[in-house]
Amino acid sequence: MNEQGTDKGRRRILIAATSAVGAVGVGFVAVPFIASMNPSARARAAGAPVEANVSKLEPGALLRVKFRGQPIWVVHRTDEMLESLPTLEPKLVDPGSEVATQQPEYCQNPERAINPRYFVAIGICTHLGCSPTYRPEVAPDDLGPDWKGGWFCPCHGSKFDLAGRVYKGVPAPTNLVIPKHTYLNESTILIGEDEEGAA
Ligand code: FES
Repeated sequence: MNEQGTDKGRRRILIAATSAVGAVGVGFVAVPFIASMNPSARARAAGAPVEANVSKLEPGALLRVKFRGQPIWVVHRTDEMLESLPTLEPKLVDPGSEVATQQPEYCQNPERAINPRYFVAIGICTHLGCSPTYRPEVAPDDLGPDWKGGWFCPCHGSKFDLAGRVYKGVPAPTNLVIPKHTYLNESTILIGEDEEGAA
């Protein structure tokens, strides 16, 4: 073997040795990380349903949880928020939630909810998948005097009301998606599963 060949050989051995150390290093880091996850964290990682506790959620506030890597919102709607919903119907694409794919049957109602007080939705815009911004304030300067609260998507300007219903004249074609969910008790919502089973 000439000198060049020997160098190449040495380099190959070095690369192999480095990769082996790298692999051991990853294993060493990963094992304690998984072991340190509690049972519910392990279940979440596997895509199991997640619980949202709304007992401390203030009226008007939004709680964020993750389900299968997706942002899930839970909003505690006030009386004023609920009263605003029917007034918006002429401005909406699908006020009656006719598009069946956007919610389970038990949310095909004016509030798009099991319990009208709490609105649950997947926080992903139905246009191209950005995550809209929660804008609960009434008539802010940038959204105009008719704005009664909802979500604004910063990517291309889609607007949704406080039941996740899309406004007319924006790029998003459909209402926000409502995931399967059910109540375990009056303040605990199980997201990703209902009486019929898991999502
Ligand atoms: S992704 Fe929301 S408006 Fe385009």
